[in-house]
Amino acid sequence: MIQKSDKILVIGSSGQIGTELVQNLREIYGISNVVASDVKVTEQAKEGPFEVIDVMNAQGLLEVVKRHNINQVYLLAALLSATAEKMPKFAWDLNMQGLFNVLDLAKEKIIQKVYWPSSIAVFGPNTPRENTPQFTIMEPSTVYGISKQAGERWCEYYFKKYGVDVRSLRYPGLIGWKSAPGGGTTDYAVHIFHEALKSGSYECFLSENTTLPMMYMPDAIKATIGIMESDYQKVKIRSSYNLSGFSFSPKEIALEIKKYIPNFSISYIPDSRQQIADSWPKSIDSSEAGIDWGWKPEYDLAAMTKDMIKNLKN
Ligand code: SER
Repeated sequence: MIQKSDKILVIGSSGQIGTELVQNLREIYGISNVVASDVKVTEQAKEGPFEVIDVMNAQGLLEVVKRHNINQVYLLAALLSATAEKMPKFAWDLNMQGLFNVLDLAKEKIIQKVYWPSSIAVFGPNTPRENTPQFTIMEPSTVYGISKQAGERWCEYYFKKYGVDVRSLRYPGLIGWKSAPGGGTTDYAVHIFHEALKSGSYECFLSENTTLPMMYMPDAIKATIGIMESDYQKVKIRSSYNLSGFSFSPKEIALEIKKYIPNFSISYIPDSRQQIADSWPKSIDSSEAGIDWGWKPEYDLAAMTKDMIKNLKN
């Protein structure tokens, strides 16, 4: 439920999710009640309250939280799968210390509610790959996945041990036109649209039949704000919920794009990200999210493609 007194801080607000999330939160809560923050000043600073925050700096974070009377934090700052493989130690430090710094604010009752994203990267090569269940084998083989799985365990621990109201979703690959992804394995599904419109061709870094779970950004934002606004009792899983939209391979999305750009061509030169993709599920069972707090995606591949092309053309 929305409280008039809600004051929200979004950390990592200029990234792929943050850019859209801040806009949507401000429509609901009002511009002045949503503080955007990133590790450096970005264009976003022109749109409303903005703070420079390095999430590793607990003292700096506390100072901003107190100054703005923040009671909810969305922690989006992290290194994604492909970048994390290039700097494993830094990725671990950033992804974990950032989470602890925010969870500890809630443990000390300085803030009341935390949102933290997990990912399909928590799964690994031994996980059942089709319709992956909520509770299953999780042996992630990437640094990013290891940090997300450990983070999930800590979220649940802080909930049970300290009563911290933390909520989380395992995002699939996210596709949107308002912001660019950075450093993920699923980024091709955004790049492909930009290249299709710009040059009519795309060189894909995953092989043609690499099917991965994906979601259109409006659905991801709806799920994120949806779980945060759900009644406390309804959020039964305090590690992280499976979340599903639709699944496709590079070949399938290329065929869909061809409906709008008939001469579009795609080639495949898999790189190190192929191995990461091969360790992740093809599709996700998100029935717990449906039962517990009413999750239902709206977009499928066709509807997403149509909307992406329409908006990117403008
Ligand atoms: N989209 C992310 C990545 O590819 C997965 O959470 O790293």
